[in-house]
Amino acid sequence: MTPAPVLLSDYQPYPFLIEQVSLRFALLPQATRVSARLDLTPNPARPGQHDLRLDGEGLRLLSLRLGGTPLECQPDATGLTIPAALIPAGAFTLETEVEIAPEGNTALEGLYMSNGMYCTQCEAEGFRKITFYPDRPDVMARFRVRIEADLPVLLSNGNPVDSGAGWAEWDDPWPKPAYLFALVAGDLVAHSAPFTTAEGRKVALNIWVRPGDQDRCAYAMDALIRSMQWDETAYGRAYDLDVFNIVAVDDFNMGAMENKGLNIFNSKFVLASPETATDDDFARIEAIIAHEYFHNWTGNRITCRDWFQLCLKEGLTVFRDQQFSGDMRSHAVKRIEDVLMLRARQFREDQGPLAHPVRPDSYVEINNFYTATIYEKGAEVIGMLKRLVGEDGYKAALDLYFTRHDGDAATIEDWLKVFEDATGRDLTQFKRWYTEAGTPRLGVHEAWDGAGTYTLTFTQTNPPTPGQPDKGAKVIPIAVGLLNPNGDEVLPTTVLEMTQAVQSFRFDGLAARPVPSILRGFSAPVVLERDADAAERAFLLAHDTDPFNRWEAGRSLAKDVLARMVTQGAAPARGWLDGLAALVCDDSLDPAYRALALRLPSEDDMAATLAAAGHVPDPDRLHAERRRMALALAERLAPHLPGLMEAMRVTAPFAPDATQAGQRALFNACLQLASRLDGGAQARDAYARASNMTDGLAALVALLDLGQGQAQLDAFETRWRHDRLVMDKWFMLQILHAAPDQTAATVARLTARTDFDWQNPNRFRAVIGALSANHAGFHQADGSGYRLLADWLIRLDPKNPQTAARMSTAFETWRRYDAGRQQLIRAELSRIAATQGLSRDLGEMAGRMLG
Ligand code: ARG
Ligand code: ZN
Repeated sequence: MTPAPVLLSDYQPYPFLIEQVSLRFALLPQATRVSARLDLTPNPARPGQHDLRLDGEGLRLLSLRLGGTPLECQPDATGLTIPAALIPAGAFTLETEVEIAPEGNTALEGLYMSNGMYCTQCEAEGFRKITFYPDRPDVMARFRVRIEADLPVLLSNGNPVDSGAGWAEWDDPWPKPAYLFALVAGDLVAHSAPFTTAEGRKVALNIWVRPGDQDRCAYAMDALIRSMQWDETAYGRAYDLDVFNIVAVDDFNMGAMENKGLNIFNSKFVLASPETATDDDFARIEAIIAHEYFHNWTGNRITCRDWFQLCLKEGLTVFRDQQFSGDMRSHAVKRIEDVLMLRARQFREDQGPLAHPVRPDSYVEINNFYTATIYEKGAEVIGMLKRLVGEDGYKAALDLYFTRHDGDAATIEDWLKVFEDATGRDLTQFKRWYTEAGTPRLGVHEAWDGAGTYTLTFTQTNPPTPGQPDKGAKVIPIAVGLLNPNGDEVLPTTVLEMTQAVQSFRFDGLAARPVPSILRGFSAPVVLERDADAAERAFLLAHDTDPFNRWEAGRSLAKDVLARMVTQGAAPARGWLDGLAALVCDDSLDPAYRALALRLPSEDDMAATLAAAGHVPDPDRLHAERRRMALALAERLAPHLPGLMEAMRVTAPFAPDATQAGQRALFNACLQLASRLDGGAQARDAYARASNMTDGLAALVALLDLGQGQAQLDAFETRWRHDRLVMDKWFMLQILHAAPDQTAATVARLTARTDFDWQNPNRFRAVIGALSANHAGFHQADGSGYRLLADWLIRLDPKNPQTAARMSTAFETWRRYDAGRQQLIRAELSRIAATQGLSRDLGEMAGRMLG
């Protein structure tokens, strides 16, 4: 039975305000006692007499007092109701004592244990598993917390008040919703640094880790300090407490969490050393440290009124962390990486049965809505707003947002209003980006009158999505530039503002028919449907002044080439090979950029593209043709590879910066190609000589792609078997790079190992996530991949529904494939849906995917 959905239209303010919360935790693994005292007053926004409803799940109620008087009251399955008749007029207190068992909490939501450490995850609705409370983001209160435990480190939000042997008290002066509550208790050590804010506040920064991990915190600390400085200069926002604590936890469902003054991180996104982390890991750590820190203003100081507004904090905070990473590294490279991710995850979601608006209007389980649409499309929408109002307009709007809404639980309407008030613009139509799901498709028609006038006509179509058959035209900022036939730019980047379903833009006074560069910088999250010929794409690949579109030209050329190889058995086109070779050998270009240009379109991306063009993708054939394409590229580049690799070899001591990372990326992309020609000789040598994880893994991947590398895998295991994070890579790579017909068997072999600790989300994702990321392996026609995934989801669900539900999205693309595969996937989804005692999380996902 599907539980009733929660609806945006049902929103009502909570009938009470909470001035102060005092919590006391007596921590024990099986029987933790939580005492809570709430100081309540009636909320003038909800006049009248109201019941006091508190959320609570899995709590053993020991005592309850209202205004100091004991009260008999039985909780139900989801909370506790105190009838209006019993509630005194004016201010009153409510005291509860409950017992919970953090050790048995395998869902990793609420208070749980990881390696003997107590920790919490409350967003979205985990606080109700800790104590009875109105667990909703618009109820904001000051928290004071006392922790009692026989452990050396006891942490909560805010500033430390006092502590002694076995206890500590914390006070958070900033009112906050319960989802930002956090507590950590354990045997931890700190990597510390001081920081002084622009306002002169001295802040103690600490990264808390398990003993032995403290030498892997330096990079995260450096990223934190740079984030704090950046938010001061870029947004004028300074930190507002005396301490900022980060804790690394091994068992964590998501990436990290922005609890006020006490960020809790998946250890994977904190711990790094050159020997254990790749350049990509370092970049991700930098981005996530920044993301969680930036939430202090966009999320904590200004939070969300309800969970439908989740993009208010997540879209904006992703947008801010993207700006930060661009400033720290390269804007062009960052933009390309972000768009690759957007297309791989968000477009895929937006074009399937799980499509939902950036601001949804209903949900069953809110944890299922921490999606690429809320986060990444939410950030794209802000990028479009910024393009439309300009740098100054954006700055004025953000300043107004912070002054007007500091301390508020706000809405998307509030957010759009500050842009309207600061810039005088009407954003009524723009708001559709928040309320309508789906990826618009943008058609282009060009006309040249032979007398200097060139006209671009755009047509937008907004395809139907679940529950939204018809949609209006969107406001689409289309950044364009025009080049003349010898490659000079005759029109620098100009933003065309499309507001109608069909709209033309005229350019006069041109000497010759121009070549258009459309959607520069990927100025809107749309699918551009332009039937450019290969010659025009090759021209843009050689000449476009916009780095994103130059890369994009190579990308779309590559996709056309691969599509023709798959559907017509064509040979890899010479024009693409030559254009790419010229770009890769151009020393004036950033190595990181050239490495990105060498990356072939993924099989999943190609499957989506082929399906959109009316073909039924054949995963095996796609896999084989993509390999043929890589081989052709290797052969074309063969004369240049030794020189490129020599030039890209890093001789300086390892630094995780963009410069070195770019060199390693290009070197390793070349190594990957060279391996296809030399039988793996250079990769074996590179593996043996590697002095950092980036180079070592790249060499290993090159060998695995050749069906080799067993000796290296064994050596790797011997060296790293005691390191969970490093071993996650070992598990993952073998599956990701298994031959299609070997993938299921590889998963079966690895999941049989005693160190396949499937209740650890990182390990589960490394193995089961890799299964669905190996496109041809997952989509084997015999259904072995589907069955394996479904088996594991059904097994994980009773322990950890959140992670099981998240990983079920591997099935969301089923409509792309042939009837046989469709039937196999539907059967697995139906089997999941029919499972006894299935969670609300996985139940909702299976139901939506079955449609
Ligand atoms: N707010 C966190 C972040 O984006 C994500 C927490 C999501 N947790 C969850 N259980 N859904 O930084
Ligand atoms: Zn976030």
